[in-house]
Amino acid sequence: MERTFLMVKPDGVQRCLVGEVIRRLESKGFTLVGLKMLGVSKELAEAHYDVHKERPFFPGLIQFITSGPVVAMVWEGEGVIASARKIIGATNPLSAEPGTIRGDYGVTVGRNLIHGSDAPETAQNEISLWFKPEELVSWQPALTTWLYE
Ligand code: RTP
Ligand code: MG
Repeated sequence: MERTFLMVKPDGVQRCLVGEVIRRLESKGFTLVGLKMLGVSKELAEAHYDVHKERPFFPGLIQFITSGPVVAMVWEGEGVIASARKIIGATNPLSAEPGTIRGDYGVTVGRNLIHGSDAPETAQNEISLWFKPEELVSWQPALTTWLYE
């Protein structure tokens, strides 16, 4: 089953949106298989956002991600990578549709509340960057037969 990496960023934690984020993914029908709160080291933040290291916003982004605790999660389900990105909404919260997390709660691109992996390969890389294999739980939700044909 497909898995993705999501992270409630420091602003989402400070804004008390951890429960809301989890609720939206749970209600959709996805399965939580990994969850932890942590302070992010500069090394981890730089590895996570390595693809953006030449961009002008990179130093500010690293400063921000390391500025307070985050909540890291792995979610599982059919099509979860693309679906979670839709639930999260566009990178710039002012362009994000109402009904998405960024559209409902965010204002600026540098405070857009949550990260989600953007493709199968990045999802795999990010899951192994943030979680040890033994931190992930494979389980069969009782609701499975009511979610999948
Ligand atoms: P994320 O990786 O955090 O899930 O966000 P994303 O895919 O929607 O956007 P991405 O292009 O990967 O950018 C990563 C994060 O960098 C910050 N950013 N700032 N100031 C700017 O122009 C700018 N552009 C991007 C955002 O926090 C964005 O989520
Ligand atoms: Mg991204």
